[in-house]
Amino acid sequence: MKKSQYLAVAIALVAGSVQAYAQSKGDAAKGKEVFEQCSVCHNADSAEKKMGPGLKGMFKKAKMDSTGKAPTDANVMGKIEEGGNGMPAYKEMLSADEKANLLAYLHTL
Ligand code: HEC
Repeated sequence: MKKSQYLAVAIALVAGSVQAYAQSKGDAAKGKEVFEQCSVCHNADSAEKKMGPGLKGMFKKAKMDSTGKAPTDANVMGKIEEGGNGMPAYKEMLSADEKANLLAYLHTL
């Protein structure tokens, strides 16, 4: 291989891994769009209760308001997927990508 070909391969590898990382982490900007359907019941800019708990700073709290569990990604997504107590279940309503993006967005609050 010529030097320029090595370079092209190296660039492709880096670009590929950056993309994979972005996918696994979710896209907060897209997650914000997904959140529009949640904002009827949840404040994003305060912890004040609307229909459900305000979600600002949720990941910094010791416990989730609803379940009393630690706000890990798994516990938060569990609540979003299963719902309950006035919270709709989103398991079937959101795609895997939408869930990843939503989670990334919630982490920015
Ligand atoms: C119809 C109103 C409604 C909608 C729409 C709604 N939620 Fe909820 N949500 C609630 C209620 C009520 C609770 C509290 C449930 C409980 O106490 O068990 C809740 C709880 C939660 C919790 C747990 C918060 C905590 O601190 O315990 C999260 C996270 C959450 N919702 C995220 C979302 C997301 C993301 C969406 C949109 C995909 C959404 N909700 C849509 C009403 C709603």
